[in-house]
Amino acid sequence: MMTIIVAAIGGSLLRPEVEQKHVWLSQLISIIRDRVSAGDRLGLVIGGGAPAREGITLAKPLISDGYHLDKIGIAATRLNATIIREAFTEAGISVSGIIPSSVNEAVQLLEERPVVVMGGTEPGHTTDAVATRLAIAVKANKCIIATNVEKVFNEDPRCNPNAKSFDNLTHEELQEIVGPAEHKEAGKSSVVDPIAVLEATMANLELNIIDGRKIERLNNAILGLDFEGTKIFSEGEK
Ligand code: UTP
Repeated sequence: MMTIIVAAIGGSLLRPEVEQKHVWLSQLISIIRDRVSAGDRLGLVIGGGAPAREGITLAKPLISDGYHLDKIGIAATRLNATIIREAFTEAGISVSGIIPSSVNEAVQLLEERPVVVMGGTEPGHTTDAVATRLAIAVKANKCIIATNVEKVFNEDPRCNPNAKSFDNLTHEELQEIVGPAEHKEAGKSSVVDPIAVLEATMANLELNIIDGRKIERLNNAILGLDFEGTKIFSEGEK
């Protein structure tokens, strides 16, 4: 049976603090190649990571309007998406030739090609919200959020070593942790964008939050197997 897989891939995953930086990307290529061979379709939404932070920090003393700073963040997400798209093409993966600039365009492209790679769309949210919107639009049964933390914690574990982590949460519990659904500041991130959480809640979309640095966890989430991370269900299903 064909599965549509949608994942937000945090920009931090592209620039790991390890010597062999290309290893993770090679592993991602091999996972995606296997899924395409199995007949699945994949929409990957790539975050801005280091270039987003760098660009926004550089521009901040000159640009006060958050809308324009967001546009710099979006450009960085599209840069990272281009790196992934070009690497997929080189590896022979049938990926869409362009980086779509809207969710609607991505939906159309996914009808033509098994793989679509994109970045951000418009100011006012992060790529997590783009991924949840894409997952809802293509009726995926969940949205994977691959980031650089092990699980969702009740507090930032870097500040509080006794912070509690969760294997399962309801959408409402996650919203409580990440805060109200508003876009605070360009480049500021929480474990999941609170806007994405609200949209997932309204659509009753399952979220799988995983540490994408551990590529086997990403693979397990993609395959629908048990994975280490945090699963977000609606109240009735937890
Ligand atoms: P990211 O999606 O990269 O946010 O967008 P992030 O939470 O920092 O994610 P990681 O660390 O890469 O996983 C970076 C910035 O780009 C702008 C916002 O300013 C966001 O904070 N952006 C991104 C938008 O305005 N709209 C988008 O659709 C995407």
